[in-house]
This record gives sequence, C-alpha cells and structure tokens, in this order.
Amino acid sequence: MDKQLGGKVAVITGASRGIGRAIAVALAGQGASLVLAARDREALDETAKNVAKAGGEAMVVPVEMTDEGSLKNLIRAAGDHFGRIDILVNNAGITHSARLAETTTADYDRCMAINARGPYILCREAIPWLGKMGRGYIINISSVVGVKGYPLQTAYGASKHALRGMSIALAEELKDENIRVHVICPGGVDTEMVTRVRPDIKKGDLIEPQEIAELVVYLVTHRGNAVMDEIHLRRSTSGPWF
Ligand SMILES: NC(=O)c1ccc[n+]([C@@H]2O[C@H](COP(=O)([O-])OP(=O)(O)OC[C@H]3O[C@@H](n4cnc5c(N)ncnc54)[C@H](OP(=O)(O)O)[C@@H]3O)[C@@H](O)[C@H]2O)c1
Repeated sequence: MDKQLGGKVAVITGASRGIGRAIAVALAGQGASLVLAARDREALDETAKNVAKAGGEAMVVPVEMTDEGSLKNLIRAAGDHFGRIDILVNNAGITHSARLAETTTADYDRCMAINARGPYILCREAIPWLGKMGRGYIINISSVVGVKGYPLQTAYGASKHALRGMSIALAEELKDENIRVHVICPGGVDTEMVTRVRPDIKKGDLIEPQEIAELVVYLVTHRGNAVMDEIHLRRSTSGPWF
C-alpha cells in the first residue's frame, strides 16, 4: 500500500522513549519526516535510528519543555529545516504522585509547565505553519487522569485537565482554518512512566504504546467525513468509562 504521509512533517515531543517513540516510528512508517524532541539526546538518536529502520528521516532537537525559548527554537528549527510543519504531537509529560497536602507549589508548577504550558506555547508557535500545505493536525496526549479524578494525582490531574480543556477550545477556534485538534486520553500504557506510578497494574494488562501510535496514524490519515475529536482509551481489564 502507498505511504500516506509522504512529504509531511511531524514534530513530536517526548520522542526519546515510550509513547512518543512509538508514534515517531509509526508516522515514519507512513512516510512522514520527523522532528524528534525531548531532553535526552542519546535516547533521541536511538529513536532516530528506529525511524530510519522504518524508512523515515528524522531531525533531533533537544528541548526543555519548561523553557519558552527552547520551545520556540524547536518550531523554528523544524520549519527552517523542512520548510513545512503538518503535524504537532504534544506528548511530552511527567507525573507527580502524592497527596495534595504533600505536593509543593514547585511540584505543581512543574507539572503545569511541562504538561500544559509547554504544549500551549508549542501550539501557538506551530499554528502559523500548520494547515498551509494540506490539512494540519495537533494531537495532544492527555490522560484518563484528564477526565476522571484519582487520589494522589491532583497536580498531574490539573495539568492533564488543562491540556484537554485547551485542546477542546482550540479545536473550535481552528475549525475553519484547515487545522484539526485531537486529544487522546489513555489509561495505563506500558512505559517507564506507568511502572513508576502504578506498579500494581500487571504489565500484560497495559495498553501498548503502539496502540496509541496506530490511533495517531489513523487521525492524521483518515480522509472521510467522520472526525474523532477526543479519544478515550481504557485497558481492556478495567471498567468502561460510562
Ligand atoms: N504511560 C501511561 O500510562 C500514560 C497514560 C496516559 C497518558 N500518558 C501521557 O503520555 C505521554 C507520554 O508518556 P510516556 O508514558 O511515554 O512517558 P515516559 O516514558 O516517561 O516519557 C515521557 C517523555 O517526556 C519527555 N519529557 C519529560 N520531561 C521533559 C522536559 N522537561 N522537557 C522535555 N521533554 C520532557 C521525556 O524525555 P526526556 O526525559 O528525554 O526529556 C520522555 O520522552 C505523557 O504526556 C503522559 O502523561 C501516559
């Protein structure tokens, strides 16, 4: 089958491991060129090798999500190098697991800066590029914790609700500008993050990062009239959301 994303450029944050790496490889498999962002350059280079194996081209840009200048540089570097940006995947994120009474203001600020403020800045910087040469896409990775309430997750939950809220408003704002905004809210996914926060969940019960990546590919390649604005994903062993 023909590759569906040939000539398209995707910027992915949190591409050094986990869900971000899986999304990068899946988009590369459909012919997209990738801009891979995170802090750990060696791990980004490893993702770039995986992208190359999938037949794609990748540029690595080390980025610090809390630093506005670094985020602006990411979008500038992507645009300058490839001359276009078609897809922005806001995937980088951190968790913080503690009772509110034991969560410092600095813990809260860090969650908000990486999970909500950084994506906000990246959307603003990328919008002038998106949708100019065919449809543009913003995919924001929120969480089940951005919809439901969980104890010990007040800071993380606030940041993921913020990301989701921003996504819903932005989807309305951009709907006539050839840019679609999608938000994905997964339950437990088999990455380093979940093994730290939810060691109680059996590995075999977790969602695979590739399953998220397949959905991202679907969202950016689907050409019909049906649009999925928000996707809720749960582990098959957990209860339905409704
Ligand atoms: N795993 C789950 O169960 C689950 C469920 C729902 C939603 N999510 C969300 O999915 C996204 C990806 O999570 P994951 O499970 O793949 O987590 P992960 O394996 O911990 O990866 C997190 C990514 O974010 C990057 N990152 C963290 N802090 C950063 C910073 N200050 N500046 C730049 N990059 C930073 C990390 O790269 P460096 O360390 O190299 O900077 C890494 O690439 C997150 O937004 C997470 O909240 C995960």
